[in-house]
Amino acid sequence: MAMNRRDILAGAGALSAAALLPRFAGPARALPPPAVPETGRTVSLDLVAGERMVALPCFNGGSLPMWTFSDGAWPPIVRLKLGDRLDVRFENRLPRAGEHTSVHWHGLRIPNAEDGVPYLTQEPVWPGEHFRYSFVPPDTGSFFFHPHCNTVEQLGRGLAGILIVEGDESEPYDADVPLIMRDWRVDGSALEPSSTFIDFFTAEGAGKAGTFGTLRSTNGAVNPEIILPAAGDCRLRLFNVDTTRFMQVGVMGADAMVVAIDGVAVPPFALRAWDLGPAMRLDVIVRAPGDGEMAEVVDYFAPEPVPLARLVGSGAPRRQSAFDPAPLRAGRMAEPDLANAERLPFEFTATATAEALAEAEASGAFLGSLCTSGATFWAINKAVWPAEEGVIPEPLAVLERGRTYIFEMQNRTQHRHPIHIHGHTFKVLSSNRRDLPVHWADTVLLGPRERIEAAFVADNPGDWMFHCHIIEHQESGMMGTVRVT
Ligand code: C2O
Ligand code: CU
Repeated sequence: MAMNRRDILAGAGALSAAALLPRFAGPARALPPPAVPETGRTVSLDLVAGERMVALPCFNGGSLPMWTFSDGAWPPIVRLKLGDRLDVRFENRLPRAGEHTSVHWHGLRIPNAEDGVPYLTQEPVWPGEHFRYSFVPPDTGSFFFHPHCNTVEQLGRGLAGILIVEGDESEPYDADVPLIMRDWRVDGSALEPSSTFIDFFTAEGAGKAGTFGTLRSTNGAVNPEIILPAAGDCRLRLFNVDTTRFMQVGVMGADAMVVAIDGVAVPPFALRAWDLGPAMRLDVIVRAPGDGEMAEVVDYFAPEPVPLARLVGSGAPRRQSAFDPAPLRAGRMAEPDLANAERLPFEFTATATAEALAEAEASGAFLGSLCTSGATFWAINKAVWPAEEGVIPEPLAVLERGRTYIFEMQNRTQHRHPIHIHGHTFKVLSSNRRDLPVHWADTVLLGPRERIEAAFVADNPGDWMFHCHIIEHQESGMMGTVRVT
């Protein structure tokens, strides 16, 4: 009898014992992290933020005045190998006076000066100006990049790109396909040449779960067909790059296992329905369907599963063996020293929302500055991000370089908040409400009333953003910084 890795893990003849194992029991052997090769290679990238009329397939014949980073396909997808340097010449050609921008490299543990946060790590890049980013990503994985002020509109109009750092595979898979999921705020689904975007920020949304898009898409299309080698073990890199929507992703009609969360390896576990909030990523291996057959990637967070992509097998079957995908090499983050860690509580709360909502609606004063909405609905440890442009508040915490911290993150609201830290990656230890594997993540979904403990070594000096990635929450108060000295 052929044994797969999990049988070996559970011991010969221990199938019933295997069934009793907790769902997230990983293989006893973990693969070591990859060494960073000296590739000596530099990849040059030109990004020009500008308005372009784009006819994405999901626009159904129409074009919209998108804001994008390049003339090519949306979104740009940059692939590096671990050890490569990325050298970016960035230019702001956005068409609105005063519309400054920047590029934040979400999830990358790069030097603070490359982090792309206006007023905090660099000066804003005003229309007509240039900026240069240059760094060697220290980690493999699935990342993305986006601006960091007026993100609700800039990202809402499409200003984002994908960054993949290769070098984590222990055995090659049969395909590697990014699935980039987001909604668009458009008026109706039958787009006309004159169609345009509708308001990205609404007080109604910002004070609650966020303002949802009206048109869902994957890779710029509605439920696209993705051709995969039949019966191959195929890597799907799922990206939720929406400003607002939370999904529960799953695969119907094929076996699927999660191999990485936010780009970092996790011992493979069966994918059922995984909570994927804005900015979160999930790497999944599926055994592709046979030639001409179909499976589906779906969002279960709806009365009926919403189809996100159709996976269609093609060609001679690649594999006959039982489905048992090869794990990825471990991440390269320093292991937290839990015994000597300092615990820091962070409470995510709503402000006097009702008053704030009423006041905001009465004044209609939104997006008075580029970096915040001017309305404050949300807070971290009672502090709200100031509404004045360019005013950076005192850090929420000052961390000592090299020390381990455990962030005790408590959601005291009825809404979900995907909480993101810059420059570091959390080791998520536990939740009081969900059965989660211990895993690494740069964006941690806090459900209503959920409390999560996450540890990390504060090993990247600088002032780092720490905020909710529902962009309207971020821009209406739920944002702060932590300082690593
Ligand atoms: Cu994806 Cu502070 O950002
Ligand atoms: Cu939030």
